[in-house]
Amino acid sequence: MRHEHIEVNSGLMIALVLAVISIGGLVEIVPLYFINDTVEKVDGVRPYTPLELRGRDIYVREGCFLCHSQMIRPFRDEWLRYGHYSLAAESKYDHPFQWGSKRTGPDLARVGNKFSNQWHVQHLVKPTSVVPESIMPNYPWLLDTELDYTDVADRMKALRYTGVPYSLTQAEYEKNVKDFGKVVADQLDISQAKDNLMKQARTFNYDGLPDRVTEMEALVAYLQVLGTMVDFSKYDEGYFANFR
Ligand code: HEC
Repeated sequence: MRHEHIEVNSGLMIALVLAVISIGGLVEIVPLYFINDTVEKVDGVRPYTPLELRGRDIYVREGCFLCHSQMIRPFRDEWLRYGHYSLAAESKYDHPFQWGSKRTGPDLARVGNKFSNQWHVQHLVKPTSVVPESIMPNYPWLLDTELDYTDVADRMKALRYTGVPYSLTQAEYEKNVKDFGKVVADQLDISQAKDNLMKQARTFNYDGLPDRVTEMEALVAYLQVLGTMVDFSKYDEGYFANFR
């Protein structure tokens, strides 16, 4: 009876609907204000270097997330296949995060150091040349296209506004030295971005082309760092050790 009263009385109905929706809204929104306390700090997690960051942008541009997730769930079958489950801290500098929701291909959260640079280059140019049954598309243009990094400093500045600790001022730089050590702090210094990008590309030559910095270079640099920042051998003495 009372229900009928609500249904025929649109003013009351609207008021009650709004009340219910706002409770749902609060439940979703309020925890976001405490996100800094919820995400535990983990040693080793750092923002991407300029080269890795450009690689991530290419990963997003090419839509790799449509087929690849980057989140290992805490289930036994997942650890056995991919390694330690993903920690919240491992994607805290990802804006937007790349957890994904579909796995046409395998999860990539810990693909770093799993294959050689050369394997990645060959695989991305033509996946079936290394995995004959692969249905992954070819990305040959990545190796032909010079990497545009003219705006890398601006990209870092934009992320700085979202809370990623890339440094613009001396004080921010010094805080990074304290938090991450000098080597990483230099990589996070926006004023050195282009030099750092070139230096990393020259030193590691991810694309196998010593004289060129291609989009492939950046993408492989990014893939090779995924899941490698945390040294899990320092943790999990008990249960996980059985699965290593
Ligand atoms: C249409 C779906 C699809 C898209 C889009 C796609 N992949 Fe894949 N990927 C796959 C499949 C399927 C496999 C497994 C077979 C293989 O290794 O090629 C795979 C495998 C991989 C592997 C090897 C992982 C492992 O642990 O064996 C890497 C690395 C990878 N993809 C990177 C990428 C990147 C980078 C992009 C974007 C440039 C991308 N993929 C886009 C489907 C896709």
